Order: sequence, then structure tokens, then C-alpha cells
Amino acid sequence: MIRAIDLVAGKIGLTAAIALVGLACSSLAAQAVNHSVEHGRELAVNNCARCHAIGNTGESAHPDAPPFRTLSQRLDVDTIDEALLTRATPAHSDMPHFTITMGQATDLAAYIASVQPTAHGKELVELNCSPCHAIGPQGDSPHADAPPFRELGQRYPIEALEEAFVEGIETGHPDMPSFVAAPDQIADIIAYIESVQVGK
Ligand code: HEC
Ligand code: HEC
Repeated sequence: MIRAIDLVAGKIGLTAAIALVGLACSSLAAQAVNHSVEHGRELAVNNCARCHAIGNTGESAHPDAPPFRTLSQRLDVDTIDEALLTRATPAHSDMPHFTITMGQATDLAAYIASVQPTAHGKELVELNCSPCHAIGPQGDSPHADAPPFRELGQRYPIEALEEAFVEGIETGHPDMPSFVAAPDQIADIIAYIESVQVGK
């Protein structure tokens, strides 16, 4: 199946036609979500990256274009697909008008949601920490000695973790691995841990 997106940059008069090969859909929900995010990422690479920083790091090429990872500070990321479809956003002369299908809006929105700090942090801790720690709002840690993340705030202010992560956590526990993370990864992990604290 070939999908085409026709993007018209009104002011510049530029038309870019991008044909994407659709992947066969799997019946598993988790995989369908990943397809959507992956397809949205492709659309963003091809259509948005020349102005916006689209990933978890970096500055935008266009000085006025907000990095996608900061969009949740400006608008409701859950309804960004509607905003893209109705063109309620944005009214900037440099922001091109799009002709966009509902599927493409959904996929772009899923991708944009996935690069927000809390979502990115969740992805990182699912991969790296969940084998031992309970990472969510409930449940026991798989490793009996590993504190559930939602209770860390009872031990120290969560912001204090930033320094600890940069220096490398020394718990003196043989089962707690020391890990090396980039500063942006650390910031996103902390944003996620902050979001699951008891009482939040
Ligand atoms: C030619 C440069 C350019 C391209 C290409 C571009 N944008 Fe933008 N975009 C901008 C600028 C500049 C702004 C800032 C607009 C403002 O604040 O008024 C912006 C703002 C936005 C906003 C924020 C709107 C708000 O209300 O805060 C969203 C969402 C957005 N762009 C999505 C996209 C998506 C999705 C794509 C790709 C499909 C894209 N942009 C492609 C230049 C661009
Ligand atoms: C192989 C198991 C394992 C993995 C994977 C793991 N941890 Fe731990 N972690 C532990 C254990 C066990 C402790 C308890 C150490 C102690 O009390 O001495 C711990 C303690 C901690 C503490 C509390 C330190 C303190 O002094 O209170 C933090 C914060 C922490 N881990 C963060 C993380 C993060 C973030 C990740 C993922 C990037 C992670 N851990 C991955 C086993 C693990």
C-alpha cells in the first residue's frame, strides 16, 4: 500500500510529495502503536526536521520553530492530531500549510507524544530499570531490594537524583548496576520518575 502526503508550503510555493510504503499491520496493539510512532517519525524527518528539532536532543534549524520535545509545554499533546488536521495551529508565516490525512495526523501526533520528556523517560526506564524496579504507580519491584520508583521521593527530593545520576549512583549494592546516561536522558528519566511519585 502506498500512502502519499502532499505538503504545500504556501508562501514558498513548494510542493513536496512523499510516498511512504505502508507496513502490514499486526494485530498486536503494542506493535500497532510502534508502527504509528515509527511512521510519524518518518513523516517528521521528511517534512518537519528542516525547521524543527524533532528528536530528544538538539536545537531547531529555524530559530522560531519549537523543538517537538517542548510542544507539551505549549499545547495539549493529546489533541495535536486534531490541531494538525484542522490547522488550528499555528499561524506563523514560516510554518507551512499541510494537506494531511487523518492517519498521518494520528501518526505524527503519536510520534510527537513519544518524544516528550516524560514519555521518553518512561521508555528509558522500561528498558533499563524495570527488570529490578517497579517503575509505575503500583506493583512490587521484581528485585526485592530495589525501591519502587514511586517511593524515591520519600527518601530525598527527586531533583537530587540528577546529580547522583551524573556522578553515577553508588548504592554499595552489587545488584544495582552503574549506568552511563547522557544529560538529556537523565533529565527525561527524572521527569518520568517525578511524574509517578506517590501523591502526585
Ligand atoms: C519552514 C519551516 C517549518 C516547517 C517545515 C514546519 N514547521 Fe512547524 N513551526 C514553524 C515555526 C516557525 C513555528 C512557530 C510558530 C509560532 O510560534 O507562531 C512552528 C510551530 C509549530 C507548532 C506549534 C504550534 C503552537 O501552537 O505552538 C507545531 C505543532 C508545529 N509547528 C508542527 C509542525 C509539524 C508537524 C511539521 C511537519 C509536518 C512542521 N511543523 C513543519 C516552522 C516550520
Ligand atoms: C539489576 C537490578 C537493577 C537494575 C537494572 C536497576 N537497579 Fe536501581 N537499584 C537496584 C537495587 C538492588 C537497589 C537498592 C540498592 C541499595 O539499597 O543499596 C537500587 C537502588 C536504586 C536507587 C536508590 C538509591 C538510593 O541510594 O536510595 C535508585 C535511584 C535507582 N536504583 C535507580 C535506578 C535507575 C534509574 C535504573 C535504570 C536506569 C536502575 N536503578 C536499574 C537494582 C537495580
